[in-house]
Amino acid sequence: MTENSVPDRTQVGIVGGGPAGLMLGQLLHLQGIDSVILERRPAEHVIERVRAGVLEQTTVDLLTEAGVGGRLHREGMRHDGIYIAFGGSRHHIDFSALTGGRTITIYGQNEVVRDLIDARRATGAPLLFETPDVSVQDLDTSRPRIRFSERGRPRELTCDFIAGCDGFHGICRASIPAARFRTFERIYPFGWLGILAAAPPASDEIVYSHHDRGFALFSMRSPTITRLYLQCAPDEDLDRWPDDRIWKELQTRLRTDDGWRPNEGAILQKGVTGMRSFVVEPMRHGPLFLAGDAAHIVPPTGAKGLNLAMADVWRLADALAAFYTSGNAGPLETYSDRGLRRVWRAQRFSWWMTSMLHKNESDTAFDERRQLAELDYLVSSSAAMTSLAESYSGAPLG
Ligand code: APR
Ligand code: PHB
Repeated sequence: MTENSVPDRTQVGIVGGGPAGLMLGQLLHLQGIDSVILERRPAEHVIERVRAGVLEQTTVDLLTEAGVGGRLHREGMRHDGIYIAFGGSRHHIDFSALTGGRTITIYGQNEVVRDLIDARRATGAPLLFETPDVSVQDLDTSRPRIRFSERGRPRELTCDFIAGCDGFHGICRASIPAARFRTFERIYPFGWLGILAAAPPASDEIVYSHHDRGFALFSMRSPTITRLYLQCAPDEDLDRWPDDRIWKELQTRLRTDDGWRPNEGAILQKGVTGMRSFVVEPMRHGPLFLAGDAAHIVPPTGAKGLNLAMADVWRLADALAAFYTSGNAGPLETYSDRGLRRVWRAQRFSWWMTSMLHKNESDTAFDERRQLAELDYLVSSSAAMTSLAESYSGAPLG
């Protein structure tokens, strides 16, 4: 079957071809379960979108087991830990030593997506791009349907289950009657101005920096590309940030007293993103299961977004496999509760990292001293560092 030949029915209809939808398709394929993936945007858009870049040990293991870890192991940058900088000094937190060998890997989300699209194409299973007008119907029956347009023609796909992997602004969550779910939300009064620069990374590991002028983050994508972020207003106007202003501010916030500073280079891409925490409960409505950003958003400070999406689709694929192989619906029944436990832990961690590192205009002098005491405690207590290391490198699945 070619990419564009879509049947009228399938076992699992997947709305959204981001990392969650594509990985779910791969995991289901490995279990012999049919799926159709419908993605609104063109393939190039999904592949080129610059997003997250830190994979937990758990995510690396999952991608490897799913047969899509080849390039990740060749090109990904394995890091044993991170640096936390404040007051002019950098402090190393060694995840590997603190957690019995768990590490993280830097590999862009767009590279994960590229590998998953290649894997899907190799299976020949249906993956459609540029499908506008997707809607989900009959969610109160056991034969839900997805309506969409395929090259201008109206189509209908009958499914056993629908996976809502269509991100925060998707249609799946919005199709659930309001009385059937509850949402939890926090909007932060700041955003991140992010750049990609053609500069070799000046540090072997990521640096999270607390500074009086606001948070800054040093990260990377490859031995020649540095990724950097500055705390800014949530609606910051990029026109006010010519390249030299960005570099000056990055140098001020990141430079440490030992002379360390990021290398500069041509800026290849710039963008501003706001920050929010969001959870929907439950992550299921009848035959519709939500996964990834459709169900939850975390602020990027803990690098959890992509990793949570991967944990969701692992749980969902596993539950669907139990259903199809032995008729056991138990794991599907508990999909939401088990997922929410991991989600809320990640929410707590991301909120904590965010509040420890960012400058909040409403903070009092007391709050500022307390924040510095928190950082001082973190880098001088092995119990505190272990707690960070455990959450950052990710709990095992299951
Ligand atoms: N029909 C079809 N596809 C849709 C629709 C729709 N109505 N609405 C949205 N989509 C697609 C989007 O175009 C996008 O490609 O769903 C996909 C959702 O992908 P993501 O937003 O990347 O979400 P997810 O797959 O859950 O991955 C979570 O993304 O935002 C980051 O930090 C987050 O890394 C995490 C990851
Ligand atoms: C990134 O490399 O893009 C990155 C790293 C760490 C974060 C967020 C983003 O917490």
